[in-house]
This record gives sequence, structure tokens and C-alpha cells, in this order.
Amino acid sequence: MKQTTDFLKMKLSGEKIAMITAYDFPSAKLAEQAGVDMILVGDSLGMVVLGYESTVPVTIEDMVHHTKAVKRGSQNTFIVTDMPFMTYNLNREETLKSAAKLVQDGGAHAVKVEGAGEVVDMIRALTSSGIPVMAHLGLTPQKAGVLGGYKVQGKTAEAANQLLDDAILCQEAGAFAVVLECVPRQLAERITNQLDIPTIGIGAGSSVDGQVLVYHDFLAYGVDRVAKFVKQYSNANEIMLAGIEQYVMEVKACLFPEQQHTYTMKEEELTALYG
Ligand code: KIV
Ligand code: NA
Repeated sequence: MKQTTDFLKMKLSGEKIAMITAYDFPSAKLAEQAGVDMILVGDSLGMVVLGYESTVPVTIEDMVHHTKAVKRGSQNTFIVTDMPFMTYNLNREETLKSAAKLVQDGGAHAVKVEGAGEVVDMIRALTSSGIPVMAHLGLTPQKAGVLGGYKVQGKTAEAANQLLDDAILCQEAGAFAVVLECVPRQLAERITNQLDIPTIGIGAGSSVDGQVLVYHDFLAYGVDRVAKFVKQYSNANEIMLAGIEQYVMEVKACLFPEQQHTYTMKEEELTALYG
């Protein structure tokens, strides 16, 4: 299994880091089978799996529950779990307790937190307590309410410089990697070049050290509309819907089950039972 230090080595050697989200046993199994370098149990599960409007309602218990399932499906892949909304913003003690649940109960190898500012102190507290931290800057979905929706970040000179400063602060606080979401590629490239730790982009162009996409988005599974930065690599919706429709049709038409799906007793067994 790869460790945080391996991701640093990958940045140095130029080997891109391939990361996807996974939220349960089957998605984690496929992720590991396909050879992803890192799995993110993202709080995006609130939207793509639980059907919430945003990631805000997701709880620490939700994240522990899903991390455990992922862990059972992928025992040899580095797992990062998102700290949900307001579980790392109040104080050091709450932050450490919440992260400990994800690592000890859930089995995550690292946690991810959104934003800089006061969160930088929490990154320091977590890493100095022995919990690896992935930072997340740019579009930070837990703050969509404050940011005014899901938009590209860092477009003014001031915002771009702030983003670079924040990334450096996260690195200095001990973060082992940083997700850059929805930022222009030139800015993502500049940050990538300035940092020693790897950058993982989502909507950040190709000049970053790795990529991450949301499982249900890039496989088109239960999701109808996706952002510009998502490439859809399969159409699970079509395949699965066709299967379910066929099943319904065959049940109604008495075409399923057939002989091969059916248990049958031998003639003598029947006689022994019913005479
Ligand atoms: O929750 C999530 O899936 C994420 C990725 C978009 C980086 O945080
Ligand atoms: Na997230």
C-alpha cells in the first residue's frame, strides 16, 4: 500500500496520482482492482449517495459508516476521509476527537479538511497528533453558501495570491497534499510548482500532480448533470436502467425465472414427501 511519502516521491518523479472517491464496499473493491493510488471517502456522498442538496448535512457518523465499508472493500489502498461540515472548525479538542473517530473507528489513513485561515491551526494540531491531513482549497463545497455557489475560484490577482499563500500555509502546517478544486489551470500550475507537497486537481487542469473525480459523476451513476470538469468514462445509468427495465418486463411476462434459475425436486423425493 502506498503511504504519504510515496505521494511525495510521485510528485518528484512526475508520476501522476490517480484518485477517485468511493463510498461503499463495491465501489472500493473496483477502485482497488483498477489500481487507483488513493481513495477519497468524500462528503460528496451526502449528495451522490444520500440525496442531500449539499454536503452540509453529512455527519461524522455518516463518514465513519461509509469509511468502514470502503475499508472492507480495499485493504491495500490509502484511504482519505473527509471531515464533515463543522467538525474541525470549533476548537482543537473537537477537531481531534472527530478525526480520531474517522481514523480509529472508520479505518481512514488520513483526513481531509477544507479551507485555510483558522483551519491551518487544526491541520497543525492533527498532523502533530499523528493524523495525516490532506488540505482542500479553491472551491470548498462546505462553504458554497458563503462563496455564492459552485464557481471557479482564484480569478482575481488578489484571490489568486491568497490561494497560493493558503496552499503554502497548509504545507507548512504539515499537510501531505492539497486538493485544488475549480481553479484556472495557470493558477493550479503556479501553486503546483511552488509547493513541495503534491497537488490533486479537480477542475484544475492538467498541470497538477494528480487528479480526483467523484465516482458517481465520472461513471454516470445516479447523477444526471455534471460540471464542465468531469469526463464521463462510462454510462452506468444506461446499463443499469436497461437491466432493471428488462427485469420488470420479464417478471410481468413470466419470462423470469427460467428452468436454470429454479430449484427442482427429483420425482422420488417428491413421492417420499407427499406420497
Ligand atoms: O467530497 C468530495 O468528493 C471531494 C472531492 C470533490 C475532492 O471533496
Ligand atoms: Na468533500
